Amino acid sequence: MNDLPQKYKEMSDGEVYAAIRQARQTLGERLTILGHHYQSDEVIQFADFRGDSLELSRQAAQATRAEYIVFCGVHFMAETAAILCQPSQMVIQPVIEALCPMASMADAEEAAAAWDALSPLWDGDLLPLTYQNSVADIKAFVGKQGGAVCTSSNAAQLFQWAFSQKGHVLFMPDEHLGTNTALAMGIPHARIGIWNPLRPPQVESLAGCQVIVWKGFCSVHTCFRPEDVDEARANYPDALVVVHPECKHEVVAKADLSGSTTGIIRAVEQAPAGSTVIVGTEWHLVNRLAETYPDKRVLPLRRSECRTMAMTTARDLLYALDGILSGTPHNIVTVDEDTAAWARVALERMLRG
Ligand code: 13P
Ligand code: SF4
Repeated sequence: MNDLPQKYKEMSDGEVYAAIRQARQTLGERLTILGHHYQSDEVIQFADFRGDSLELSRQAAQATRAEYIVFCGVHFMAETAAILCQPSQMVIQPVIEALCPMASMADAEEAAAAWDALSPLWDGDLLPLTYQNSVADIKAFVGKQGGAVCTSSNAAQLFQWAFSQKGHVLFMPDEHLGTNTALAMGIPHARIGIWNPLRPPQVESLAGCQVIVWKGFCSVHTCFRPEDVDEARANYPDALVVVHPECKHEVVAKADLSGSTTGIIRAVEQAPAGSTVIVGTEWHLVNRLAETYPDKRVLPLRRSECRTMAMTTARDLLYALDGILSGTPHNIVTVDEDTAAWARVALERMLRG
């Protein structure tokens, strides 16, 4: 939450919601509100479009009519929108301090050091891929080196594309999405190496690897344990267990399905009435799915919340809209043009796919 002016703190929820509705009506087509599925109900109810990372990127690139794109999510998502939108558009993140901790686990300097160490190992036969959950500098680095961005819904596709270009892949910054994707493609553990930027390994020890994954992680998803799946199955033997690919491989291996946020939503949608679905992802989404499908039993694998996603409240959204209405927008997300140009190259390689 921002350090909000007192007036917002004194308003009741009902007054806040009514004021947001009024602001949206006043701004009309000049405004598009985008919201990630992990946002709280009080915020997501106002999104013109809600989606996972990939869908929101597409939406940001397509929402060309709106003068203002208000992005309710974390910073790398709003930054991506700022890179993909038109120069005449403004991206506003109601709480600009809402950073994804995983995205902060790799910076361009560390990526360059890894690249300089690894690339000669295979005479340049190496391509970088970055998860969308990364800072703009990393996307730009990847774009410059011929690589692309991926999200959890198209990682397998982008890995296939990368291997059609080069023999080896450096994947940043999520060890688990990288490992799960490589294993699902049939690349064995022995050919997946880990790059810890804080303690880089001896590069020669990685010579036999096909994929190098960066040692970054999402604490919201790595908190799920294989024992949680065992316990869920013991309690609900017929349940479908669905988890996000940011979970550790031991958890993914025990689940029935692993899928991006949208993949998880589809799995719950398609489950028959009366069935039990146990979901290993961010709790706000699991809770919303449980409310949306009262004819099914939707349970969290364990309660795990993304604190930075939860930083944005309806009051912050109203404060952002009031800023637009008063002609002094705040929390404007910008990316310098050189970085944006290369990051756009990496993002467009993904969006073309
Ligand atoms: P997706 O929206 O790609 O499923 O990513 C999940 C996530 O952790 C977003 O921060
Ligand atoms: Fe980052 Fe994980 Fe939160 Fe997504 S859920 S924003 S990856 S910390």
